[in-house]
Amino acid sequence: MTDAVRPATSDAFPRLVADRGILFGGDYNPEQWPREVWREDVELMQRAGVNLVTVGVFSWSTLEPHPGAREWAWLDEILDLLHAHGIAVDLATPTASPPPWMGTLHPETLPVTRDGVRLSPGSRNQFAPSAGVYRAAAVAIARDLAERYASHPAVRMWHVGNEYGQIDFGPEAARAFRTWLRARYGSIDALNEAWSTRVWSQGYRDFDDIVPPRTAPYLLNPAATLDFHRFTSDELRDCFREQRDAIRSVGATQPITTNLMGFFDLVDGWSWAPDLDVVSDDQYPDPALADSSQTIALVQDLTRSLGGGRPWMLMEQAASAVSWRPHNLPKSPARMRLDSLQAVARGADGVCFFQWRQARAGAERFHSSMLPHAGADSDAFRGIERLGADLAKLRGVTGGRVEAPVAILFDWQGWWAAKEPARPTERHRTLEQLERWHAELWRRGIGSDLVRPGADLAGYRAVLVPHSYILEPDAAAALERAAAAGTRIVVGPFSGVADAHGAILQGRSPVPIRDLVGVSGEEWVGLPDSGVALSDGSRAQILAERLRTDGAEVLASYAEGDLAGRPAVTRHGDVWYLGTVTSDALLARVLDQALEGIEGALGTQAVPAGLEAVRRGDALFLLNHADSTAQVAVPEGSEDLLTGHKTGPTAAIAPGEAMVLIERRTK
Ligand code: GAL
Repeated sequence: MTDAVRPATSDAFPRLVADRGILFGGDYNPEQWPREVWREDVELMQRAGVNLVTVGVFSWSTLEPHPGAREWAWLDEILDLLHAHGIAVDLATPTASPPPWMGTLHPETLPVTRDGVRLSPGSRNQFAPSAGVYRAAAVAIARDLAERYASHPAVRMWHVGNEYGQIDFGPEAARAFRTWLRARYGSIDALNEAWSTRVWSQGYRDFDDIVPPRTAPYLLNPAATLDFHRFTSDELRDCFREQRDAIRSVGATQPITTNLMGFFDLVDGWSWAPDLDVVSDDQYPDPALADSSQTIALVQDLTRSLGGGRPWMLMEQAASAVSWRPHNLPKSPARMRLDSLQAVARGADGVCFFQWRQARAGAERFHSSMLPHAGADSDAFRGIERLGADLAKLRGVTGGRVEAPVAILFDWQGWWAAKEPARPTERHRTLEQLERWHAELWRRGIGSDLVRPGADLAGYRAVLVPHSYILEPDAAAALERAAAAGTRIVVGPFSGVADAHGAILQGRSPVPIRDLVGVSGEEWVGLPDSGVALSDGSRAQILAERLRTDGAEVLASYAEGDLAGRPAVTRHGDVWYLGTVTSDALLARVLDQALEGIEGALGTQAVPAGLEAVRRGDALFLLNHADSTAQVAVPEGSEDLLTGHKTGPTAAIAPGEAMVLIERRTK
């Protein structure tokens, strides 16, 4: 990327939203339908208030049915038709799925699994990110598309590829991985040192000896695997960048994005986000899970945080059921509405779906859509119309920032390293712990940002570290600075364990923040299935640390077994340390202390169970996920943007309902 081809576009997305309001629509695949259906589509889109559709995501074989062909006529026609009906287009480069001929003519473009199986066409996403032929063809079609449509009045956004998430272990990847390693380490000696290759006779003679982490006789070197993760994310990002730059190079000024997938492990969101004009994300919470509105809130907080708190876009969600889980529960139209409003509450200025019209055939024929097989005379479509009307009423909240007094540390490299096999336990999982801790904030109505370790923590009242396996010196220093500035810090077990190569830090743990937490350990131990009793009557689970206090006050200690009498949970000034996976109740008690005086969206009021309370700009979002009515005190005369009604001194939110209140702040 050069700045010459990439004009500043940081305001391109806000300008689009200012023009259109909350973006509302979905993936639209007109090439799967005859013309008469197109006409019905645009009419129904208008009826539902759809203002943006993503076109062309999987159109490569339609646009380029044989090498070098360009079949634009159908796209010209549909873009004109959409524009004539006032519907803007997020035009996609079709590069997520090359046409089958590419695999026939250039088998090296097909990805290879870690077992050496070359994947076949016949599905989608069959490309090897490092294959030069694929890359050149992708850039060519992106550039031609942009050349033809950059100034088409319908085109208001660009969508590069789709859900980047390919991994390849074949010869193309091996070559590119070596190039990446040469750039990172300079010499093979430096790589051998970084990867500790004296273990198990892995010393490399030359970069040419290195292969991706393919299936091997036994455990792989975790440092090599960690670098392969980094490489894969960077390689995919290069695929994105080349197409984005091709679009820019012909003068396109619309915002350019690609749809991320939350905590997806092949793409390091922190390293990608600065390349996106707007961060967009695909979210498919499982309606079968009782806590999915909590876990998706975490994903939404991540998505917003990746963009530095700026509004983001929900690029895809399901209107009802997906079809890719083994058993698929639907969302009611009310649930679909609540989920959509939740995204807006947590910072989205766009609420879109996969997809506009339910597929008649193909692999996704049972996946729900905005317009179901049954057509417009359906509860599902009426639900979509209602949502469209609601989103139009929320125009005033666009651009608003979400209140977040708490930071939660998370990064991909620590997550990758912590997932490597052969550790004290596989039961301690970064995301599970993140979800548990975040849920505590959700329940309290306290907003939080996700923050990359090492980033500035100024402005946060508290910083939570549920599980940061890698804490590099800059991350430790940032925590120390924050603590010195009066920020409360809570650190969970098995944090600060490894360096950037996944090698274990030497000395009493947690090495980089030992002075901060005022407690130190010498061994991590897996716990029996039944856990171990703690002095407060709860049980420690999964993992413990053989700790001694170095000045910290002991809040709970082990009450039995080999660790009896040793600290489990401690407090050192305003720094809390959990050396084990505590019960939810003990975690809640620790957080009650650490968050004391930090008000949530409802001030000092307790948040009724199942009510989600979020402040975004001037608006207070109250989303009732529970089965009973929730009642909260609000400033009298607050206006609900969804109904236009003014409240009394309390607001009662019916089950499955939402309010978006504009109130005069009492704080
Ligand atoms: C996404 C994908 C869409 C569609 C959707 C179904 O992963 O981007 O094209 O397949 O899932 O849930």
